[in-house]
Amino acid sequence: MCGIVGYIGNQDAKEILLKGLEKLEYRGYDSAGIAIMNNSGVQVFKEKGRIADLRQVVDQNVFAQTGIGHTRWATHGVPNHDNAHPHQSTSERFTLVHNGVIENDQILKREYLSDVSFKSDTDTEVIVQLIEKFTNEENLSVEEAFCKTLSLLKGSYALALLDEQNNGTILVGKNKSPLLVGVGDSFNVIASDAMAMLQVTDQFIELMDKEIVVVTQENVTIKKLDGTVVSRNPYTAELDASDIEKGTYPHYMLKEIDEQPLVIRKIIQSYQDDNGNLAISEDILKAMKDSDRIYIIACGTSYHAGLVGKQFIEKLAEIPVEVHVASEFSYNMPLLSKKPLFIFISQSGETADSRAVLVAIKELGYKALTITNVPGSTLSREADYTLLLHAGPEIAVASTKAYTAQIAVLSILAYVTAQSKGLEAKLDLVTELGIIANAMEVLCNEKEAFENISREFLSVTRNCFFIGRGVDYFVCLEGALKLKEISYIQAEGFAGGELKHGTIALIEEGTPVIALATQEAVNLSIRGNVKEVVARGAYPCIISMKGLEQEGDSFVIPSVHELLTPLISVIPTQLIAYYAALHRDCDVDKPRNLAKSVTVE
Ligand code: M6R
Repeated sequence: MCGIVGYIGNQDAKEILLKGLEKLEYRGYDSAGIAIMNNSGVQVFKEKGRIADLRQVVDQNVFAQTGIGHTRWATHGVPNHDNAHPHQSTSERFTLVHNGVIENDQILKREYLSDVSFKSDTDTEVIVQLIEKFTNEENLSVEEAFCKTLSLLKGSYALALLDEQNNGTILVGKNKSPLLVGVGDSFNVIASDAMAMLQVTDQFIELMDKEIVVVTQENVTIKKLDGTVVSRNPYTAELDASDIEKGTYPHYMLKEIDEQPLVIRKIIQSYQDDNGNLAISEDILKAMKDSDRIYIIACGTSYHAGLVGKQFIEKLAEIPVEVHVASEFSYNMPLLSKKPLFIFISQSGETADSRAVLVAIKELGYKALTITNVPGSTLSREADYTLLLHAGPEIAVASTKAYTAQIAVLSILAYVTAQSKGLEAKLDLVTELGIIANAMEVLCNEKEAFENISREFLSVTRNCFFIGRGVDYFVCLEGALKLKEISYIQAEGFAGGELKHGTIALIEEGTPVIALATQEAVNLSIRGNVKEVVARGAYPCIISMKGLEQEGDSFVIPSVHELLTPLISVIPTQLIAYYAALHRDCDVDKPRNLAKSVTVE
């Protein structure tokens, strides 16, 4: 995780760096810092907390046209001032920011730096001290010392280095962690994500692993670690700066929940051909049809979307599917079928746990499709095929619109694969997704009802259960994740029938149990499960679907095609979680201990 930025040009670097870091706060927000460099040397400002806290300590009177910055999600060492980036070498000649994790930092420290006194607990300080050591003791140029250091590192890094003796250059390196160079007229920038520097340019150059870049005000020179120069043209980042503003919304999460109908309509449009039929590229369809089993790999919310996607692919396209949490799959790979196809689902396209699986299965020679919101992201670049979510930037740490977009795209993938296999159509997907978008709008207009439910059921509780059967169970997993992530209420999603096999012991007088009832085949059974918990004192909140409702249900969602209900039944759970967090004064968009993009394994 962590986000880095850099600027070299003729304007005041401070404000550009701080604004950039504000856009990267989704990547980590426990401490932050900038280093700025002018003829008088380098000045470092850092602080525990958010960018707003950093702003308070930056000396506004210093003018510098070169600088680097960092917003942190702690991996090595607690979040405090000393562990915040930038880090400096002993002589303070070199100043470094780093996103990633160095796995062999302790070995390198023992082997090369036993005489160095360290000021922080970070792996990053090892890197900057190595650069100084090799420059001083091995008579290497700074660039050579930088490359030698990088060649010793095991793990992931996106790095930006300032050398006090050369204020016209930023040295950059990348391996596994994302990094872009933005190019402008008489200035150049670096950023973990284009969003951070859209304020000054929309022209970006992608960097590949094990490349370094010498960035000056006028030039960007990309090299391999062996010194070979690489030429690569910039691309235009097709991001609208207004997409990343909150507008009149109090929180990104609420804005993103409200954007869901629009996103579904955008997805329908984006996947329609000239005749209005849903279409997927032929090579993806061939890969789907050639496979004897699909392995969906994802984490968190994207994993929950994968569970719903499995239903579509099995029921519509008739291909068996396994869904795996990426971090488990990496170390405990199941016996694979003869012709597997891997589908990676990731909003950010940067999740390290998923990437580790992608690297492993590519080494085995298997094909991979990535479903992501971020074109050009690592998982997209490294897979054979990509399907985009078209959800627009998702800024809130709690994923909402990406989840529904993932489910919608998976439904289209399954549907078009079924058509191309000549299977009988079980629904008219364009029409049904249109109905979904309208139903989403209805639900988004019912905020008051969900705020009331949240107040009634969750204002004093320490825990909460979500129960459901069939696909409702998968939505319960997502509803529970959302609630615990932003309101810190301990929440569990459970299969309705499973509760009685142990967990029902936790139900006591007043325990809130939110039950989803959108599936006709299990409507009576889930209501039976509700009765079981009520008999033990639970306080039930039933969210049912029109046509299946019963007296006393807390909310009835509009009727949609049964296969697609997760697309709308999740919205009440998102809004209930949002209001629960709000009522508890939690930081909705930036919950504690988390980051939006989890780029460490
Ligand atoms: O970017 P990804 O979809 O790969 O991220 C996966 C998870 O880290 C993410 O979904 C996480 O669980 C969300 N914060 C949940 O709201």
